[in-house]
Amino acid sequence: MPGYPVTRLRRGRMNMFSRSMLTENTIQPSNLIWPVFITEGQNIVEPIEGLTNVDRISLDILAHRAKMAYRLGIPAIAIFPRIDPALKDDDGSNALASDNLVCRAIAAIKSAEPEMGVVVDIALDPFTTHGHDGIIRGGVVDNDASLEVLIKQAINYARSGSDIVAPSDMMDGRVGAIRAGLDEAGFTQVMIMSYAAKYASSLYAPFRTAVSAGALAEIKDKTSYQMNPANSDEAMREIALDIKEGADFIMVKPGMPYLDIIRRSVDQFNIPVFAYQVSGEYQMIQSLASTLPEDKQNALIMEMLVSFKRAGCTGVLSYFAYQIAEWWNET
Ligand code: PBG
Repeated sequence: MPGYPVTRLRRGRMNMFSRSMLTENTIQPSNLIWPVFITEGQNIVEPIEGLTNVDRISLDILAHRAKMAYRLGIPAIAIFPRIDPALKDDDGSNALASDNLVCRAIAAIKSAEPEMGVVVDIALDPFTTHGHDGIIRGGVVDNDASLEVLIKQAINYARSGSDIVAPSDMMDGRVGAIRAGLDEAGFTQVMIMSYAAKYASSLYAPFRTAVSAGALAEIKDKTSYQMNPANSDEAMREIALDIKEGADFIMVKPGMPYLDIIRRSVDQFNIPVFAYQVSGEYQMIQSLASTLPEDKQNALIMEMLVSFKRAGCTGVLSYFAYQIAEWWNET
């Protein structure tokens, strides 16, 4: 390649048409999965403290929003329940109830919009009094005892009509165990999106408020199962194991501070990689967005989202999904 002055890369940036023509990566509604927080009741739209423009909604509202989101081109919704504290126990047994809030939410989405993909979190934290993702035996989150429950939870949700189960608990061996359980129960078509590289992150703080009763929910120390943010090689081992155990797609979480992990996994493995732009990163962006005029807000959000595509992601779970899909359809 000749250098300056023969080569002038600014030439291509001078016009809208050439900027558009030379665009390497785009993010569009079909690349987005919309995480939503649900609660019991009717006609409930509760703002969530610390999560700007995100609501906790009842199932009637969910049905309506699912329909709208699908029309805007969003292919899938991920459900996160706020479980009534009276239904929580040490072993998270409500996760296995066939009429729990998540099961009814799956049905509500499917009856409003049968084509909308439904992703459900496989982990026990919304259902346990202690807030851990697994069950505790002898003072520790017991890996193999938790697997037994996670398998049943996945089957419960598959039976309710969920398309994709997303184990987010980071127990060893759970993808293989869930795949075997689903297959044995006849759910061979249900996909597994594994939270394969999930880090013990401070960026989950607003989420934990969203799924629990009070404001500032206590932040659990999940370092005995979630990954050390300092590690990258270990993420590749986690992903390799999950692929071997039968994951259909893998996820890296959080998103933006871990773009290196995304790029590395895309280069190393031939499997779709998703990112979860988690609650804390969403809120960091919102805090800047609130100081900007509206067109600049969308530019900011799009800049953050396209970084995932540039890193090689197939898609992104983002609380911005609805807003961006709406904006995408308007422009
Ligand atoms: C729970 C779960 C968490 C998130 C998704 N599933 C929190 C956690 O692991 O403590 C976080 C998502 C977010 O912060 O937006 N298994």
